[in-house]
Amino acid sequence: MGSGVNTIGVLTSGGDAPGMNAAIRAVVRQAITNGKKVKGIRRGYAGLLHEEIEDMTTHSVSDIISRGGTILQTARCLEFKEEEYQRQGAEICRKFGIDGLVVIGGDGSFKGAQKLAALGVNTIGVPGTIDLDIACTEYTIGFDTAVNTAMEAIDKVRDTSTSHERCSIIEVMGRGAGYIAMWCGIANGAEDVLLPERYNYDEQALVNHIIDGRKRGKQHHIIVNAEGIGHSASMAKRIEAATGIETRATILGHMQRGGVPTAKDRVYASTMGCKAVDLLCAGKTNRVVGYQHGEFLDFDIDEALGMTKDLDEYQVQICYSLGNADYVNVPE
Ligand code: ADP
Ligand code: F6P
Repeated sequence: MGSGVNTIGVLTSGGDAPGMNAAIRAVVRQAITNGKKVKGIRRGYAGLLHEEIEDMTTHSVSDIISRGGTILQTARCLEFKEEEYQRQGAEICRKFGIDGLVVIGGDGSFKGAQKLAALGVNTIGVPGTIDLDIACTEYTIGFDTAVNTAMEAIDKVRDTSTSHERCSIIEVMGRGAGYIAMWCGIANGAEDVLLPERYNYDEQALVNHIIDGRKRGKQHHIIVNAEGIGHSASMAKRIEAATGIETRATILGHMQRGGVPTAKDRVYASTMGCKAVDLLCAGKTNRVVGYQHGEFLDFDIDEALGMTKDLDEYQVQICYSLGNADYVNVPE
């Protein structure tokens, strides 16, 4: 392995995600194994600007792999979008001897990482967001845990929905992306799934589907609604008025960001954290770690930020067809 950098900083930025601790642990331990010093930067770019920087040892990351959240804490720091503060951030890195930096976060955080790389701090991004909305990778830290948390919650809502013969709208996170919604749609066998990438806002079709299902003996109607569409409470009122069927909205919210990370999130986050350190040790900068077709890879951040991705169309179709098939198969 090449010599690369001497002191590696690590920070988490944007929304927290289960598995970020596993990534931090991997960065710290892989760096120390390679003879590097490690400094933890608290509260993302906000903490960098406030010089909330401390030495980390192998011991600093003991007992965290099973914990949700991020021990370094995280923040959204609007100032960091301005060049003046980016320069200040790069200066502070130099002041603390940080010549390599691992940024764990989403696309927004990678834009900050890109700026620091351009200002001479060797920087690598690791995708951490429950939303799965980073184009260069099929995996982001936290998605697996979040979708399992949402799935379990929706199963519970389904029980009460059936008991009361209600329609239930469950809103899941994802910002503008429908990955969590689509996965829950399939995993929970939802009757309807509203995806920001596909929904045509034809509420009458939704109403007809609910009424048809009820006529055929369905005891509940689960609608998974993505945050990117939102307005679940007002939608519930309109649906109840139009169908005469009691309708309730549940917004799962931040519970989806917490909790014990799944094995997948722990293992993938650990692998990505190590890979980020390996890249820095090999003298690389302005890269982002990704996962595609069964392989852990890295991409130029500029190229990664320019990529786009969409939901898998086949999965979108089965998400709809399996919901409908269930309803079609209920005997007359
Ligand atoms: P995520 O990283 O999950 O996409 P955000 O979009 O909230 O979350 O971004 C996290 C942080 O990254 C922001 O609060 C800001 O500090 C930094 N950031 C976002 N956009 C930029 C940008 N264009 N330039 C520099 N830093 C940015
Ligand atoms: O990016 C993760 C995420 O949880 C999104 O799904 C959601 O839109 C957003 O963060 C919520 O942000 P906040 O925690 O600031 O309310």
